[in-house]
Amino acid sequence: MALEALKEGHRKALKVVEELEGALARAKAGDAAAALAVTRGLLPFLEKEQEVHFRQEEEGLFLYLARITGDGPIQAMVGEHESYWKAVAGLRELAEKGGEALLIARLLAHIIELLRGHIHREETTYFPLAEQRLSPEQLDAVDREMEAIAGLR
Ligand SMILES: [Fe+2]
Ligand SMILES: [Fe+2]
Repeated sequence: MALEALKEGHRKALKVVEELEGALARAKAGDAAAALAVTRGLLPFLEKEQEVHFRQEEEGLFLYLARITGDGPIQAMVGEHESYWKAVAGLRELAEKGGEALLIARLLAHIIELLRGHIHREETTYFPLAEQRLSPEQLDAVDREMEAIAGLR
């Protein structure tokens, strides 16, 4: 199925978002240590797996989509990736150095909202657009490029 690697990436990310909500609940309850313990376990996904996913989009699908939508909408999506990286860098710093529960809660809530909204926009707007407007050959090419990007790591 076309774009399956990206859709699978979203399913995994939404599961991680649920775990982030567990960490958020702990931070809101004032337990910074417990919130950060959960967060530390999720950082490999939030950093490494998301990096592959974003590269699959930015170096693959988005290049095809930009020809349909023009650069503006795609730059906005890449901008959301960049916002995500800033937030996750902050989370890593908190995970390493510790921090106040309130600060942890605020950042976790931000990342949860960012990821949910971003995935929703891709799933409801950009993936359907690709499936409608790209030819079967182009979709195959996108899938092959994504496999190559994932295989590079
Ligand atoms: Fe994305
Ligand atoms: Fe995505």
